[in-house]
Amino acid sequence: MQSTLMLIGMGDLGGILLEYLVTNPKLRFVTADIDKDRALARVNLARLGAVARGLDPQIDFVRLDLNNIDDTAQAIAGIKPDIILTTATLQTWWLPDRLPDAESAKIKGAGFGVWFPVHFALTLKLMRAAQQADFRGFVVTAPYPDVANAVLGKLSIPPACGIGNVEEIVPKIRWLAASRLSVPIHAIHVTLVAHHALQRFTLNRTAAGNATAAPFFLKIEADGHNVTEEIDGAELLLSAFPITAGPASHVLTAATTYRLVNALIGEEEQYIHVPGPGGLPGGYPVYANSDGIRLAVIPELPLEEAIRINENSHRFDGIEMVEEDGSVRFTQQAVETMREALGYDCPILRPDDVDDRARELLRRFSEYASGLGVSL
Ligand SMILES: NC(=O)c1ccc[n+]([C@@H]2O[C@H](COP(=O)([O-])OP(=O)(O)OC[C@H]3O[C@@H](n4cnc5c(N)ncnc54)[C@H](OP(=O)(O)O)[C@@H]3O)[C@@H](O)[C@H]2O)c1
Repeated sequence: MQSTLMLIGMGDLGGILLEYLVTNPKLRFVTADIDKDRALARVNLARLGAVARGLDPQIDFVRLDLNNIDDTAQAIAGIKPDIILTTATLQTWWLPDRLPDAESAKIKGAGFGVWFPVHFALTLKLMRAAQQADFRGFVVTAPYPDVANAVLGKLSIPPACGIGNVEEIVPKIRWLAASRLSVPIHAIHVTLVAHHALQRFTLNRTAAGNATAAPFFLKIEADGHNVTEEIDGAELLLSAFPITAGPASHVLTAATTYRLVNALIGEEEQYIHVPGPGGLPGGYPVYANSDGIRLAVIPELPLEEAIRINENSHRFDGIEMVEEDGSVRFTQQAVETMREALGYDCPILRPDDVDDRARELLRRFSEYASGLGVSL
């Protein structure tokens, strides 16, 4: 029997996710996006690619505006998906790369967290719609799950988990460890607690300069033996490992998501890392199957300490903390950088203000870019 995956957001990541996921014959798809023509063209591209590979996936499309919570709830109730996977966002994440080098470095120096309202606004509405539809399946999120899911947890509407991020670092560790020990990749088992903020210190490290890396917990085992010290796991994790930057990296996100989705529709529990499971901040190792997602127990690291590592990591993304009411408080440096560059002054973001702040930030960023002669 096939499981139904509702894939919301047919932009760059959504399109690549569909390319990867259509190869799984256990899935049928309902894709959704606000822009019908562009999304249908992307669906058609994935469909033809699948047929060319000898596959015959069922892919439907519905036009959906996540801003309309009632319509979204109705769509969810009608489609009855097993999994909702959202990539919908108000602006993609890599646009600051388009600015001239100095300005790009300045804006990126504020930390990715300053873009939180842009990536959170639609996920918040989706979770409200899922709650309204009494949806009991899995909601899996792409937009900045390390922080967004933590805020949704505080609001008591947490998604099941996020995709990518922590799990994108794991293949690097496994590959390097296997190479250093001259053992097959499948002999290497990794336990990693890490936040989105660690990524720039582990992949495309040049972007991080000489800054101190965000905290993490790492254990590497080879054939069941702890080899973390023997192969200097921390050095291995932080060693240079450049990958193609920007949207090209979505293939890695899609590969990790393929495994996660396959786990969530299967009976056998799979070991995998996910960001934001059940509303926690940052990323953790978990076991996942169609019954749900449970945190993997780490004997050396009580859960409270794992959470503390991730809470302390927010700061490396320009976020001081997530408060009990779901408000996000930004670091002073992040606030000052954005105020100086864009005139955007946002020390704290309350969930109710997310739409206004997202709109203001997008407007100010677009004006800043066009002042530099860059059209976004
Ligand atoms: N977790 C990870 O590892 C990871 C990795 C990569 C990216 N991401 C995140 O994934 C998200 C998507 O990135 P992307 O590059 O794919 O962005 P994108 O190309 O801009 O795609 C976003 C899609 O959402 C659609 N959308 C906008 N408003 C909508 C609405 N009201 N209702 C329904 N759909 C709407 C957009 O349509 P329009 O273009 O017509 O507005 C677009 O098709 C970002 O938040 C990014 O940070 C996460």
